[in-house]
Amino acid sequence: MGCQIEAATVADVLAEKIRSRRARVGIVGLGYVGLPLAVEFAKAGFSVTGIDVSEEKARRVNAGDSYVGDIPSATLGPLVDAGKLRATADFDAVKELDTINICVPTPLRKTKDPDMSFIVSACQEIARRFHPGMLIILESTTYPGTTEEVVRPMLTQPGVEVGRDFFLCFSPERVDPGNPKFQTANIPKVVGGCTPVCTEMGRLFYSQALERVVPVSSTQVAEMVKLLENTFRMINIGLVNEMALMCGRMGINVWEVIDAAATKPFGFMPFYPGPGLGGHCIPIDPFYLSWKTKQAGIEARFIELAGYINGQMPHFVVDKVQNALNDAGKPVKGSRIHVMGVAYKRDIEDLRESPALDVILLLRQRGALVTYSDPYVPTVRLDGFELAACPEEAASIADCVVIVTDHTAFDYGALVDRSRLIVDTRNALKGIVSDRIVRL
Ligand SMILES: NC(=O)c1ccc[n+]([C@@H]2O[C@H](COP(=O)([O-])OP(=O)(O)OC[C@H]3O[C@@H](n4cnc5c(N)ncnc54)[C@H](O)[C@@H]3O)[C@@H](O)[C@H]2O)c1
Repeated sequence: MGCQIEAATVADVLAEKIRSRRARVGIVGLGYVGLPLAVEFAKAGFSVTGIDVSEEKARRVNAGDSYVGDIPSATLGPLVDAGKLRATADFDAVKELDTINICVPTPLRKTKDPDMSFIVSACQEIARRFHPGMLIILESTTYPGTTEEVVRPMLTQPGVEVGRDFFLCFSPERVDPGNPKFQTANIPKVVGGCTPVCTEMGRLFYSQALERVVPVSSTQVAEMVKLLENTFRMINIGLVNEMALMCGRMGINVWEVIDAAATKPFGFMPFYPGPGLGGHCIPIDPFYLSWKTKQAGIEARFIELAGYINGQMPHFVVDKVQNALNDAGKPVKGSRIHVMGVAYKRDIEDLRESPALDVILLLRQRGALVTYSDPYVPTVRLDGFELAACPEEAASIADCVVIVTDHTAFDYGALVDRSRLIVDTRNALKGIVSDRIVRL
């Protein structure tokens, strides 16, 4: 009974701080996920401290100088000036915080095993400064069970109980960089806690700054939600990529097929083929799931198959380029090839896992002289060499142009006029009829 009274007290104190926006909010990891989240809570009136191992990022945040495309410096600066948002590389800030969202990277190792080292090192730092009454939410994408199996034991100290003395949740991050319609504030936020009180604390917290919160019954459900979403996307992209390979062999325009299929008002959702998967999520997250399920004796066969097909796409693109050049009477060796767009998707600067990097490497391996244009990426460093972006006009001296990323800033009309041969992997030249265009 005494315990229950105490439980209500710790939870009530924190809940009241959250409702009154006096809770001191901490965001660990100020990248594509963490910085926008920090900004939303600062906008909602909380005092927010960002903690990042990068002193350079902390310095830039404190100078109001944004390095994340979706956050203009004009938004960040006034929040910093008003004292609502500050950043530091010193974890001692944790001592003063009431809530912490962990938004650190979760890459895969070369062996496709999850790399938990960033989560572990962030949790070690937090555990050293832990104090009762905190709400801690893991947001990094990870395998189901991480919050319970990795984070909870690190934070639970003798005599300290989760759901009573502190509150622990998982909430998957769904941010879609470069998406003008859906950003951190209006993307529904799923949250699941270790106990019902934890879930309620997570729901209360997010509902102060975000439009819609979706509570679920456990951290494992919340972890699996993210993996279902990204696996769904990865497998459907694998399916359309395989369709593209089939259509290519049969001389059918896969883009026209998808557009026509998408007129079905129910039971179909269009996905589009491309040069391969990119970014921090879709090529990586499903392998977190397959790694975990392997331990339970279940092979994630859809994931492995889609991973294989998607991984073949850069090779397929390079074969297309080689065939197109051969048809024009040129060998790929010694040809000048100009890549349009190297970011992993349209209108962003993120190069992580970008298929353009594979395309460039494969073309160079075949002896091509490769250049590129990308308004968002000034240089590309790869396996011991570096390329600097060229103006779009460089396409005019290329033997073949490959559109890998369909940035809206490119002048596609001018590109068609100035290019001898174009391989279009994104249907960026939709509607333009020319025998100099080869489509995926
Ligand atoms: N970028 C996306 O579109 C996206 C979307 C959904 C989910 N996610 C997931 O969110 C998580 C973060 O992704 P991101 O894109 O923001 O990564 P990011 O690399 O842009 O940012 C991570 C930040 O964490 C910092 N960091 C690394 N180790 C740290 C530590 N121990 N303590 C404090 N800071 C540390 C890094 O310096 C970096 O600034 C990942 O798990 C990712 O899978 C990303």
